[in-house]
Amino acid sequence: MTAVDPERDRSPIVSLAQFEPLARAVMDPAAFDYIAGGAWDEQSLAEAEEAWRRRRLRPRVLVDVSHVDPATTMNGQAVTMPVAIAPMAAHGLAHPSAEIASAGAAAAAGVPFTLSTLSTESIEDVAAAVPDGIRWFQLYTQADPRRSRRLVERAEAAGYAAVIVTVDLPILGYRERDLRSGWDLAVKHGNFPDGRPDHASHRAEESGYDLLQDELDRALTWADLATLRSWSALPLILKGILTGEDARMAIEHGLDGIVVSNHGARQLDRAIATADALEEVVAAVDGRAEIWVDGGIRRGLDVVTALALGARGVLVGRPILWALAGGGQSGVERALEILRHETVLAMTLLGARRPDELTRSHVAG
Ligand code: FNR
Ligand code: LAC
Repeated sequence: MTAVDPERDRSPIVSLAQFEPLARAVMDPAAFDYIAGGAWDEQSLAEAEEAWRRRRLRPRVLVDVSHVDPATTMNGQAVTMPVAIAPMAAHGLAHPSAEIASAGAAAAAGVPFTLSTLSTESIEDVAAAVPDGIRWFQLYTQADPRRSRRLVERAEAAGYAAVIVTVDLPILGYRERDLRSGWDLAVKHGNFPDGRPDHASHRAEESGYDLLQDELDRALTWADLATLRSWSALPLILKGILTGEDARMAIEHGLDGIVVSNHGARQLDRAIATADALEEVVAAVDGRAEIWVDGGIRRGLDVVTALALGARGVLVGRPILWALAGGGQSGVERALEILRHETVLAMTLLGARRPDELTRSHVAG
């Protein structure tokens, strides 16, 4: 992959933040707000990026940094950098090529792509279009367990390598932007096609919000995870953990991984920033499972901070959709290239040649 070289590279896009105004210019305002927004007063949203930015780094010098490589593994799979694309509903809102383009960009960059239950394109169509990349499936557990099971079985059959169960959305957060605009995510939901009885039976363009409000399993508890696990041989990862207590529960229940996440501040406002929750979870897990973190990751500096604090990898959300809106697959490729370049630079200046050389002592406090 070509590096971002400010000397030779004439592209005016040099940071992930630059994609957002591009997306705003081309998107329907209500759809833009759906993606950009958070819950209630958006206090956690305002804090998400800031919580990474306020950490201070402690660089080590006179380390031979002539070869710096951010490659590592996530979920035991080789990745070119410790970054994956977070599960997000309806990539078709950003660009007609939808998840085919974003998954294609992830594959080209050698990073994992997570497909949402509420994706525009189906589990099978994304797999067929992007057979070679690392693909994970995010599950919203349905009130009817047969529907959940069918989704997991479809994902396994189509070559997805992990199931990420999102546990912070028993109900939708209070999203004022959407209430004002009347937004209800009534778009194509590729995993719920009409008239296929073996699939979930939602209409293809049913409101995604109705689907989340009416069809999700609000009664799901720790006791149900064993059943969920029995449906496939895939590793099971919980997304939406913010406390040491729940991290310990996850380990006790044999989970393979944890995503420290507050759902991009779209669910419980005033929830702790993930940059602040991470260390508590790392301490509770004590090396017994992989920990990833998402929310407000915008810079290579955030990536190295997350790793120094004990995460194995990070997930990136909104900037991927902004890049998709702004430039389709090549936009997302560019976003990932920038993030990789920034991560290599930050590692070099910190004196860490590989991700496992990033340690707690690289972050102050
Ligand atoms: C999300 N997120 C999300 N999470 C999930 O588990 N399933 C989903 O379908 C969605 N859908 C979704 C849609 C949109 C438009 C956004 C912005 C987010 C949450 C997502 O996976 C992730 O946790 C956050 O987006 C990470 O924060 P940043 O990187 O957006 O700040
Ligand atoms: C969202 C859901 C779909 O955050 O996860 O919009």
